Amino acid sequence: MFAHLPRDVTIYEVGPRDGLQNEPRPVSTADKVAFIDALSATGLPAIEITSFVNPKWIPQLADASEVARAIQRAPGLRYSCLVPNRQGLDKALAAGMKEVAVFLSASETHNKKNVNKTIAETLHAFDEVIRPSHDAGAKVRAYVSTVYGCPYEGHVDPQAVVDLSQELRRRGVYQISLGDTIGAGTPLQVRDVLERVLAVIPAPEIAVHFHDTRGTALANILVALDLGIATVDSALGGLGGCPYAPGASGNVATEDVVYMLHGMGIRTGVDLEALCTASVKVSSLVGHEMPSKYLKAHLGLKARGDRRRPTPAGSGTAGGGGPAGGPFTKTGA
Ligand code: HMG
Ligand code: MG
Repeated sequence: MFAHLPRDVTIYEVGPRDGLQNEPRPVSTADKVAFIDALSATGLPAIEITSFVNPKWIPQLADASEVARAIQRAPGLRYSCLVPNRQGLDKALAAGMKEVAVFLSASETHNKKNVNKTIAETLHAFDEVIRPSHDAGAKVRAYVSTVYGCPYEGHVDPQAVVDLSQELRRRGVYQISLGDTIGAGTPLQVRDVLERVLAVIPAPEIAVHFHDTRGTALANILVALDLGIATVDSALGGLGGCPYAPGASGNVATEDVVYMLHGMGIRTGVDLEALCTASVKVSSLVGHEMPSKYLKAHLGLKARGDRRRPTPAGSGTAGGGGPAGGPFTKTGA
């Protein structure tokens, strides 16, 4: 069992984008920048920092350009953003972005609610994004949403996921992240869909993106890893959700994924202690507890001063960590 797990996994952190887009309390630009800068110091290899979408649709990320311009870019770390169309791309490139992500859904109704277009119209809009991105020297990733279920239509045909993924690959995206937008997938379903996709697309070109609405995300990730997929999207603390997918809740928490992977001897290069320190600070920015199970256990043990807390094998955790509490910036902006 689990004979094919990769030795190294790329964690693609989406907290500043997928996490914040669903938060009702406005977060200042300075605090977003501090959030991303703190993530940059944890060893993460890729961070999706914001979205260049219509601010009327996603008010929380209206300051995308300011955020992209203000962050400290760590060498070797990839910073990406969502763009739905040419207008978003132009703004992203002007703000210094070198990687963008396009997105569409495997179900028509969610696609329409999310981007106000049919799937065919959305693919057409990508013609104005993918080639011009490449011409400008930027990489393009893609998301397929509602892979394991749609909040409006229910069942989603796995063949639609395969067809769309192939279409996106033909159009030149370097990786396709398959989204369980409403956190409905279960492990055997995930195996079925991923096996179909992997029959036509190599594993390095596929990533998984699980929301943890029903608690199945880690089990689903394990199935994906055993099929050779080695890029996992997650959000610090388990923040996240699509405002246009009713009932969707947070992404799988980065802390929980990293803990599980390190415990299995799989390398991520991420410092779990540093993640937890950042997560506590973000919790005070958004004004509520983070859903991450690992974070809760970690803080509980810390509060009791228990030095016997489990440290996963190969974690490379720095130890110590900062005191819990307090936002990144006291003054805001
Ligand atoms: P629309 O209203 O159909 O756009 O929105 P339009 O082309 O008709 O233009 C209308 C107005 O929007 C115009 O302004 C444009 O300038 C403006 P006005 O003349 O009315 O003042 N506009 C823009 N403004 C800023 N940036 C832009 C832009 N484009 C047009 N890029 C649109 C179409 C796609 C823009 C809109 O539907 C939109 O922004 N949707 C975004 C929805 C979204 O961000 N959803 C969440 C992300 S997806 C997700 O979370 C799933 C994922 O995590 C994977 C998973 O979990 O499955 C990725
Ligand atoms: Mg998502």
